[in-house]
Amino acid sequence: MSGPTPAAVSALLRSQLCFHPPLPTSSFKDQTVIITGGNTGLGREAAMHIVRLGAAKVIISVRSLVKGEVAKEYIEKETGRKDVVEVWELDLSTSESVRAFAKRVSEDLVRLDAVIENAGMWPKTFELVESHEATIKTNVLSTLLLANLLIPTLLKSAKANPSTTPVLTFVDSALHKFATLKARRTSSNIITALSTSPGVTKAFDGDMRYNDSKLLLLLYAQKLSESIPLSPETNKPLVCINAVNPGYCISGLVVASGFAARTAEKVMARSTDEGARTLVDAVAADKVRTEERWGAYIDDMRVQKPAAWIETKEGQETKERVWRDVNEILGL
Ligand SMILES: NC(=O)c1ccc[n+]([C@@H]2O[C@H](COP(=O)([O-])OP(=O)(O)OC[C@H]3O[C@@H](n4cnc5c(N)ncnc54)[C@H](OP(=O)(O)O)[C@@H]3O)[C@@H](O)[C@H]2O)c1
Repeated sequence: MSGPTPAAVSALLRSQLCFHPPLPTSSFKDQTVIITGGNTGLGREAAMHIVRLGAAKVIISVRSLVKGEVAKEYIEKETGRKDVVEVWELDLSTSESVRAFAKRVSEDLVRLDAVIENAGMWPKTFELVESHEATIKTNVLSTLLLANLLIPTLLKSAKANPSTTPVLTFVDSALHKFATLKARRTSSNIITALSTSPGVTKAFDGDMRYNDSKLLLLLYAQKLSESIPLSPETNKPLVCINAVNPGYCISGLVVASGFAARTAEKVMARSTDEGARTLVDAVAADKVRTEERWGAYIDDMRVQKPAAWIETKEGQETKERVWRDVNEILGL
């Protein structure tokens, strides 16, 4: 991992300039779907598509119930479908909130078809929450704790409805290919190392922290997929775990400031709706059934190779370490 390589940069440019995500048409009839960070950005637009495509229940998780209700009203108005969206509280900066949300899922839902773990942040400054750097806590630790806590409900749903393959997708980023993950050079726990303050003498690189968080998420997702029990009938995992790159999209994640950033956004960025279409595609039941999407990295709505480094000896060793280090911190 050495930051942006010419191959990664040109793949990103090609995708942004040449691929235009088509409107999703897969059916979500009778399905129950959870989308984290569903009050705005890609999450809200994805929820809107899934409601339009016939889902029975779409739970949008939000930090602010007020913002959630506004999003719910917007989706109901746009789709003309009422009583499908539910707004549930979830704050990824506290483990207690993650555990409470997962408990509610296990108690209230008899069926769970898809989870889009979309909520995420891009940091400007170094901040600690519950002893971890905020990006690592939000994009990695809490996102993965939630996934682990939702898997039993997804497995239960798979067993009760054998014709379905529940899906959990992590919203990742092509920027995982730009990561450097310097923290891997420490001998201690990688996650703990990332939560050490850079101090006053060194600047905190928020952009690289975001890239690193998406690489960590992808490495763990691949291992998590391997840990899912297989269906005795199909010999495939009972739950499909994958990661999706929505591409560079206009949203609240980063506000383009300055001439160069605004021009790049104008020329390259997808609309929020176009980005959301890729999230919907990643959990579409027909795609999961017909394509090998187990542990996959989905980009431009098809399975693609993630960073080549992951396949190197060092990449594979780092993946094992990330799995161990994250699980140690989460107590799994
Ligand atoms: N936009 C892009 O170009 C792009 C590209 C690749 C990947 N992604 C990924 O796409 C996902 C969605 O981002 P977006 O672009 O739609 O950004 P966004 O408009 O900023 O939306 C982010 C969502 O995450 C929620 N969130 C942030 N921190 C949270 C926390 N601690 N607990 C619970 N929810 C939290 C936000 O809630 P609040 O409204 O309460 O803040 C919001 O609902 C992220 O994972 C991002 O990394 C985006």
